[in-house]
Amino acid sequence: MLTERLDPKKDAGAIKRAAELLRRGEVVGMPTETVYGLAADAMRPDAVDAIFKAKGRPQDNPLIVHIASLESLPLLWEHTPPEALALAGRFWPGPLTIVCKKTGRVPRETAGGLDTVGVRFPSHPLAKALIEESGLVLAAPSANLSGRPSTTTAEHVMEDLSGKIAAVLDGGPCSVGVESTVLSLAGERPRLLRPGGVTLESLRAVLGEVEIDRAVREQIGDGETVSAPGMKYRHYAPHAPVTVVAGAPDETAAYIKRRAGEKTGILCFDEYAPLFVGLTVRLLGPVSDTGAQAQKVFDALRSFDQTDCAAILAQCPPDSGLGLAVANRLKKAAGFKLVHPGEGCL
Ligand code: TXA
Ligand code: MG
Repeated sequence: MLTERLDPKKDAGAIKRAAELLRRGEVVGMPTETVYGLAADAMRPDAVDAIFKAKGRPQDNPLIVHIASLESLPLLWEHTPPEALALAGRFWPGPLTIVCKKTGRVPRETAGGLDTVGVRFPSHPLAKALIEESGLVLAAPSANLSGRPSTTTAEHVMEDLSGKIAAVLDGGPCSVGVESTVLSLAGERPRLLRPGGVTLESLRAVLGEVEIDRAVREQIGDGETVSAPGMKYRHYAPHAPVTVVAGAPDETAAYIKRRAGEKTGILCFDEYAPLFVGLTVRLLGPVSDTGAQAQKVFDALRSFDQTDCAAILAQCPPDSGLGLAVANRLKKAAGFKLVHPGEGCL
């Protein structure tokens, strides 16, 4: 199949065309403020199957459903808890996915066999326009091949999925750069399943206590049960193995300097680039700018695949604010392989 590249800046009919493809049950790459999504009609099992096929995604990994109006909630959730409305009022449209018990109308395929469904109201104007124009609610995982870093430009989407999907709607680079925060309200207490564009601190400001799922901080073994099935798979990974060098930036930079050889890829904070002149370096953004780090992390990880690096060493921000999401993506790319030079490991 030839993948159409639809650019609303050049073609006034781009959104109409993308919507028409979606109504036919096709899969379309859609820009959102977080990352690109691989969208299809969430209520049509055959369309949803086509998403899993294009991505090579395990069938037990549920999809997020994207809406452009709160009026779609009763179609998707059996009951909308007051906490969900409070969160929607504060963070929607935006990078927050809320998981609640699903209705019988949401196909088993969309929910990955679970009895819940995650819903998100994206703020990207093209995502909103596409949902409205199609008249559908759209299931959309991140638009990458399963296991690869998520995509934050239409070029990334073409890299992974050209020939496998009907079209990609080009919205330029994504502004947030890491995926949405996934929060479950389906259990007794609110639980963070994936850190993302909305910080844990800001969720706690609305909800009080929020539990953190174990899969956010550590690798879950094969066969273990997890709350967010996607969190158990190796993820976000470039071809070369990644090691996260954790700790204070001066120490981690010095460690990387000692260890780096000709075939080492280095992902470092901007301030440390001068230490690594002549080596293969990608910049993660300034130490204190987690917003820039979120925007850059996937592009940086992906770009090592265009080099001949045999291993990648990465600096990493601390687990606070948006840093929690950036650190989570880096650690998952590393399969949670971490070294701590500050703790006597040379
Ligand atoms: O920002 C985003 O969330 C992007 C854009 C396109 O909206 N989408 C995205 O989808 O990242 P995906 O499928 O790549 O990641 C969704 C994560 C997976 O780890 C999945 O297992 C989890 O959320 N998830 C989805 N629905 C769930 C549910 N009902 N219960 C538990 N976890 C769920
Ligand atoms: Mg994904």
